[in-house]
Amino acid sequence: MKGIILAGGMGTRLRPLTLITNKHLLPVYNKPMILYPIETLRQSGISEIMLVCGREHAGDFINFLGSGKEYGVKLAYAVQDKNNGGIADALAYAEDFSDGDSVAVILGDNIFEDSFRGSVKSFKAGARVFLKKVKDPQRYGVPVFDKKDKKIIKIEEKPENPKSHYALTGFYLVDNDIFSFIKKLKPSKRGELEMTDALNHYVEMGKTSFSIVNGQWYDTGTIDSLLESALQIKKKISEKN
Ligand code: DAU
Repeated sequence: MKGIILAGGMGTRLRPLTLITNKHLLPVYNKPMILYPIETLRQSGISEIMLVCGREHAGDFINFLGSGKEYGVKLAYAVQDKNNGGIADALAYAEDFSDGDSVAVILGDNIFEDSFRGSVKSFKAGARVFLKKVKDPQRYGVPVFDKKDKKIIKIEEKPENPKSHYALTGFYLVDNDIFSFIKKLKPSKRGELEMTDALNHYVEMGKTSFSIVNGQWYDTGTIDSLLESALQIKKKISEKN
C-alpha cells in the first residue's frame, strides 16, 4: 500500500511560529514534525509516500527530505494550489499517485506512538478510521455510534455537543473510492473540503470500520499541544535511555 502525508494548510493556530516556516517543519522536541508521520508510515510497512504541501514552503520540504532515502522511504511530492483548501482537497492531489489502489493517509501534524502495521496488512476495502478517547472531543472529528456502540453511524467535525468521547485521529485507510467522494464535496462552514465529509460517504454505505489507538497520540496543531507533545516525547526518550 502507498502512503500519503498531508502537510499543507496555513497553521494559523501556531502563529507567529508559522509566519517563519511551515508548521510541519517546526521542531517537536528533537526533530522536525514531518519526520514523525514519515516514521509512522515506515513502521507500518509503507515506504512509497507522497507528501502534499503548500506552494510557499515546498522548496524547504524538498531541501530537507530529498528523495527520502535517508529516512528509509521513497518520496514523491505534490503541491496543493489553494493554501487552505482543506484536508480532502489536499488528498485529491494524490489521485494519480494512488494508481487505483487503497491508500494510507496521515495528517502531517499527527504523532503516533504505535504503528499501524497490522491494520495496513489486513485492510481490504471501504474506510478504516482510528479513534482515541479524549477529554475535549469538540476539537476533533467525532464519531457517533449506534446504540450498541458497535457501529459508527456518522462522523461530526468539531461538534459543539459531541455525541461520544472519541476523536478521529489523523490516520485513515481508504480504498480508491475516496477520490470520487472528494469530487462530490462542497466546502464546509470553515470553507474547506473536509475529510470527515468524504468519510461520511463510506459511513452511509455501511463501509466504515474502526480501531481504538492504544498508544499515545498527539495532534500538534496548537501551541499548547505542540509543547505538550514535545515534553511527552522527551520523557519517553529519557525513560528508554
Ligand atoms: O488531528 C485530528 C483531526 O484533524 C481530526 O479529528 C479532524 O477530523 C480533522 O479535520 C483534522 O482537524 P484539524 O482542525 O486539526 O485539521 P487541520 O486544519 O489542522 O489540518 C490537519 C493537517 O492537514 C495539517 O497538518 C496539514 C493538512 N492540511 C490541512 C489543510 C486545511 C492540508 O494538507 N491542506 C489543507 O488545506
